[in-house]
Amino acid sequence: MGAGAFRHNPRRRQGLAGREILQTVGNPDGALLPSALSLERAAPRRDASPVPKHSPRPLAAFSERELRDALGEFATGVTIIATRSPAGELAGFTASSFNSVSLDPPLVVWSLSRQASPLAAFEACASYGISVLTRAQRALALRFAEAMPDRFTGVPHRIGTQGAPLIEGCSAWFECRHHSVTPAGDHVLFVGEVVALGRSDTRPPTLTFHRGSFGST
Ligand SMILES: Cc1cc2nc3c(=O)[nH]c(=O)nc-3n(C[C@H](O)[C@H](O)[C@H](O)COP(=O)(O)O)c2cc1C
Repeated sequence: MGAGAFRHNPRRRQGLAGREILQTVGNPDGALLPSALSLERAAPRRDASPVPKHSPRPLAAFSERELRDALGEFATGVTIIATRSPAGELAGFTASSFNSVSLDPPLVVWSLSRQASPLAAFEACASYGISVLTRAQRALALRFAEAMPDRFTGVPHRIGTQGAPLIEGCSAWFECRHHSVTPAGDHVLFVGEVVALGRSDTRPPTLTFHRGSFGST
């Protein structure tokens, strides 16, 4: 198909406001092809489908329950993410959203519900600790997911070199500073730069979370 097959995009002349997008124009075969002529500012099309072409299912075709269940097929580890205020107050919660992002620079990611009580503490803090839990720490995972006034009472922990609370006996830990804090739907997405880390010498079995249940490696 030669360049002559492209039609000029008539919306170029409309002087529309809106997002700058790479428009596509039709060709005689009915396919959509990008046009170098059509990088422009255009208003959203009223007749455009909100569903991306690559989406295997329309957005409205699944319930929140189905989304949760499908996400639950992805087995994760379990962490406790915790921070300490300048006044010394500790805040922390159980998180399975932790994951790696980048080796250089060393970045990790996790997310916290906008409804969660520790949110303000994490948004304001200079550093936080991520402790990867072992099979033996299942009770701690439950404790840090339940509503209770002081989750740290009686829990063996220490304050790391960067000031972050770390759970004793975990299989690995990371002390992080904020790289970015970004609203993401009903959660807030935290990307942390790892400034210190440690790993257990004994390689204990790791606590896992899969289909709504705890397990282990
Ligand atoms: C295995 C497991 C993983 C969880 N992962 C997350 C998570 O990644 N993000 C989140 O916001 N809540 C997560 N939660 C729920 C929080 O731990 C829980 O809502 C916590 O109690 C929030 O703090 P709050 O109760 O003080 O508001 C998880 C809970 C469990 C049991």
